[in-house]
Amino acid sequence: MKPKILVTRRLLPEAQDYLSRHVEVEVGATDRNLTRAELLEMVRDKEGLLALLVDRIDSEIMDIAPALRIIANCAVGINNIDLIHAQKRGIMVTNTPGVLTETTADLTWALILGTARRIPEAERYTRQGKFDGWALDLFLGRDITEKCLGIIGMGRIGRAVALRAQGFRMQTLYYDPNRLDPQEEKRYKAYFCPMEELLTKADVVTLHTSLSTKSHHLIGEQELLRMKNTALLINVSRGQVVDEKALVEALKTGEIWGAGLDVYEQEPDIEPELLQMDNVVLLPHIGSASFETRRNMAMTAAHNLVIGLSGHKPPNLVTPQDRK
Ligand code: DGY
Repeated sequence: MKPKILVTRRLLPEAQDYLSRHVEVEVGATDRNLTRAELLEMVRDKEGLLALLVDRIDSEIMDIAPALRIIANCAVGINNIDLIHAQKRGIMVTNTPGVLTETTADLTWALILGTARRIPEAERYTRQGKFDGWALDLFLGRDITEKCLGIIGMGRIGRAVALRAQGFRMQTLYYDPNRLDPQEEKRYKAYFCPMEELLTKADVVTLHTSLSTKSHHLIGEQELLRMKNTALLINVSRGQVVDEKALVEALKTGEIWGAGLDVYEQEPDIEPELLQMDNVVLLPHIGSASFETRRNMAMTAAHNLVIGLSGHKPPNLVTPQDRK
C-alpha cells in the first residue's frame, strides 16, 4: 500500500504526476491556501506532508498526525516549521536549497534597479497619460554603478547577488555571522565588515538572511538611522527581519531614500502606509517565481518526500541547528 500524503495546495503538473506514481496523494486545495482547520483535519491520517511557506506547521499540526514521518517544505526558508518539535517527534524536515538561488538574485537586482530608478512609479505615470514630453528633472533616481552595496546574509543568494554587483563595478561589503574564507572573498570581491559599519557606508543595503530569533527585527529604528539618507533598503528574505513600522517612519522622514520589498512582516498584509508611498517598490513575494525555478522547487520537494518515505535519507534534510 502506498503511503498517504497531503499536498497542502496543488503543485505544478509534473510534480503532481511524480507524486501520484509513488504515494497516495490528497491535494488540500487547488487555488487557495488551506485554512488552519482544514490543515488540521486533512493531515490527521498522513505519513507525509508537502507544505508551502504559508503553512504554519507547529506542534499541534504534527501531534494530530501520529503517523507523520516527513514534512517536505516547498521553499528554502523553513521558518514556518517548528524544527525542534519535529526533531523531538522524529519527523524529517526537508527544504529546497540551491534551485532558487539565481532566480532570487535576479529578482533582487530587479528590485534594486526598479527602486533606484523609480521604474514602477514612472510606469504608473506613463500609463496614466501624464507623460507630456522629456524634461531634465523627470523621475530622477539614484545611480548604482560604482556605488557601495551592503549584503547582510552571505549565503547562496547573498553570494549570487555579489557576483552580479561586479557588473556594476560596485564596492561590495558583507556581513554574516560566518565569514567567508579569503578565497571566496576574492571570488565575490566582497569585504567583510561589522553590520553597523556596513549600514553607514552602503548605498544599497540588501537582506539575504534566514529568519531566526537572532534575525527577527535585525533592521529596526536604530539600524535605519545609521543608513545614509540617500540609501535604499531591499528585502527579499523574510518580512520579519525588518521592523515594518520603523521602516515606514524612516521612509516618511527621509531617513532612507527608498525601499524595495518582496516580503512583509504580516504577509499577506502590508502596513497600509507603505501602499501609499511612492518611494517604495512592493512585490508579492515572487523572489523565486520563474517557470523553471518553481518547477524545480516543486520537484525537489516531491523527491525529498518520496525518498524520505521510502526509508532513505532525503537529500535536503534540515535540523534545528540549520536555523541558527
Ligand atoms: C523560499 O523558498 O524561502 C522563498 O521565499 C520562496 O520564494
